[in-house]
Amino acid sequence: MEIKLKSGTPLQQKTACLVLTALEGKVKSALFKELDQHLGGALARAVRDKEFSGKHCQTLLLHPSKALPADRILLIGLGKEKGAGQERLRQAAGSATSFLQDRGVTRFTIDVASIPISARNLTAGHRIQALAEGAELSTYRFNRYRTEGVNELPAPVENVTLLVEKKARVSELQPALEESRHISQGVALARDLVNEPGNVKSPDFLARTAQSLASDIDGLKCTILDKAAIEKEGMNAMLGVAQGSVRDPRLIILEYRGEEAGAHPIALVGKGVVFDAGGISLKPAEKMDEMKMDMGGGATVIGTLATAARLKLPVNLVGIVPAVENLPSGSAIRPGDILTSMSGKTIEVLNTDAEGRMILADALTYAKRFSPRVVIDLATLTGAVIIALGHHATAVLGNHDGLVRQLIKAGEQSGERLWQLPLWEDYSTQIKSDIADVKNIGGRPAGTITAAAFLSKFAADYTWAHLDIAGTAWEEKGRPYTPKGGTGVGVRLLIEYLR
Ligand code: BES
Ligand code: MN
Ligand code: ZN
Repeated sequence: MEIKLKSGTPLQQKTACLVLTALEGKVKSALFKELDQHLGGALARAVRDKEFSGKHCQTLLLHPSKALPADRILLIGLGKEKGAGQERLRQAAGSATSFLQDRGVTRFTIDVASIPISARNLTAGHRIQALAEGAELSTYRFNRYRTEGVNELPAPVENVTLLVEKKARVSELQPALEESRHISQGVALARDLVNEPGNVKSPDFLARTAQSLASDIDGLKCTILDKAAIEKEGMNAMLGVAQGSVRDPRLIILEYRGEEAGAHPIALVGKGVVFDAGGISLKPAEKMDEMKMDMGGGATVIGTLATAARLKLPVNLVGIVPAVENLPSGSAIRPGDILTSMSGKTIEVLNTDAEGRMILADALTYAKRFSPRVVIDLATLTGAVIIALGHHATAVLGNHDGLVRQLIKAGEQSGERLWQLPLWEDYSTQIKSDIADVKNIGGRPAGTITAAAFLSKFAADYTWAHLDIAGTAWEEKGRPYTPKGGTGVGVRLLIEYLR
């Protein structure tokens, strides 16, 4: 899809479709009046007959015949004025784009100047970014494994024009458009990795993907530790999880330097369980297939590093992805086993399905050698987070309130919302082991918090936040700009935070 900026007057555009936005109950601007005159009152009639009121993501398609140069007019609702901002625009652009794509309209124009949102903090750049992201991300599909019926699928949208008023705006807003193109590309990369089936994405596949990105993108460096190197580092918690699979683990390290070499980096750590069967504490069969998404955190870290490098963000970054497979077998770890982690802390494994925290324990310890100024980990860590927050927010916990606040703010801007859960010391009593330093499960109460409490024991030496994305990394139904499958959650959030 190509998105470009152009200046001009909306009703004079010659386009297959002109897309106009409307707030709920407010379909009566000067522009709509003028439009209605050209349409001979068709718009007023549609509004009167309650076919269109501007409800969020509601659509009304009109055919002006010869009255206007545009072949079609699409009205798209933005919902109520209160709360209208970047996210509504993203969703509206996504809905309009899929609506038109489904109907075979592959080129259209969205009028930016007439967007009726007055929020002062919604700059022109934000508007462009939101529209471009919504349009681009809504048409994402994972069709790599379809060999049949591909020709019957609707043709992908080819060309979206964002129409602004003045010529000067076009060059002024070009950078915002370029940035959103890179961001959407990073999200698509993360989605692709999550959607890739488990048989294809071995830990080594993830490692090779990261390596090939590093060879393609300027300034991105990749280092891979194989099993022998991981053993040398003493990462026995990670190795313990990996030992049930015939596919060996990898530790993936991506580095990008956008500021002076000496500046302490921000480290991003992503859980990379390419398939989580639960190990000897085997999961039930139902929906086990979805556990191919258990490397969603890792996918986001890889997507974010690639994007940050393409954007040349002025910051030093390290991405660390422990990639393993969690399977039951004759060589798998057992409930009751005790592992000595890289930090020296011993872990009593009471449930082999609580594997994410064990590989992260070692990855968080490994992160120390980069003297990071901040460490953020992302992980599809607990089913409990879905009980707490459903699929509408990522849980954030950490040992530094300032960092948590900054992340929450970036979440609001990016539409990838975070909600903080407490990480009081009290919760740590639930993960005290009788015979080792910690145990890897804390019982039913507050499962997301006790998992984070476990991680906190390995992240005590730096400023750290943990994002539990188990409820947000996978989309079951499809949303305006998030089709079913891997969501790539966190890429837009982290880029916003880093910016
Ligand atoms: N990968 C799962 C968590 C998960 C659940 C991710 C649902 C996405 C959707 C994780 O490794 C896991 O199995 N967690 C256990 C922990 C329990 C054994 C303490 C869980 O949540 O049940
Ligand atoms: Mn598990
Ligand atoms: Zn898992």
